[in-house]
Amino acid sequence: IDSTSLRLGGLISGTGSNLQALIDAIESKNLANVEIALVVSNKADAYGLQRALTHNLPVVYLPWKERAESEARLAALLRLFRVDLVVLVGWMRILSASFIEQFSQHIINLHPALIPDDGTGYTYTTRAGTQIPVFRGLQVVKQALDAGIKTTRSTVHYVTPEADAGPVIGREEDTRQEADTEEPRRERLTPVEHRL
Ligand code: GRF
Repeated sequence: IDSTSLRLGGLISGTGSNLQALIDAIESKNLANVEIALVVSNKADAYGLQRALTHNLPVVYLPWKERAESEARLAALLRLFRVDLVVLVGWMRILSASFIEQFSQHIINLHPALIPDDGTGYTYTTRAGTQIPVFRGLQVVKQALDAGIKTTRSTVHYVTPEADAGPVIGREEDTRQEADTEEPRRERLTPVEHRL
């Protein structure tokens, strides 16, 4: 990565509120050397595409069919738009090891649960010494809720071939405990993720 400029490639599948948070952060902090060079969605109706268009960002809808072919198209797009860092912001497709290796240490992901520092393992030890499970895959907010975990967290981490694993860059948490259903928890996690 050229230290004087950073071209981000945002990969989305849905609402794109975290993409919006990135757009807003770049604008409000006057990060003149950071730009979103490209937004790719695997869903034509992803609202995040509209958000990107509103900000005059280049967008591509990439129908996700056979994985190897789709990944080859995605890699070509990322190169064409000279993307330095791929940011998975609500991207709902598993990327293959060979794709990830092509962009090794240049893909980061936002995951709505806690991941251990080195990204691996199935338990996390809190500062208080409590062991809590690590949730990966789909519906992780619900998984945590069902397991009786009181605190909702989110992690930004480097992407490695194992899904929802890889070294941690940052974490945020919502420590309020009163929400005991999935939707309010997700809603409350949203601003936490945007900060992160
Ligand atoms: C976030 O909760 C993120 O952690 C997960 O997908 C969600 C994306 O939300 N990977 P949005 O599309 O950015 O609003």
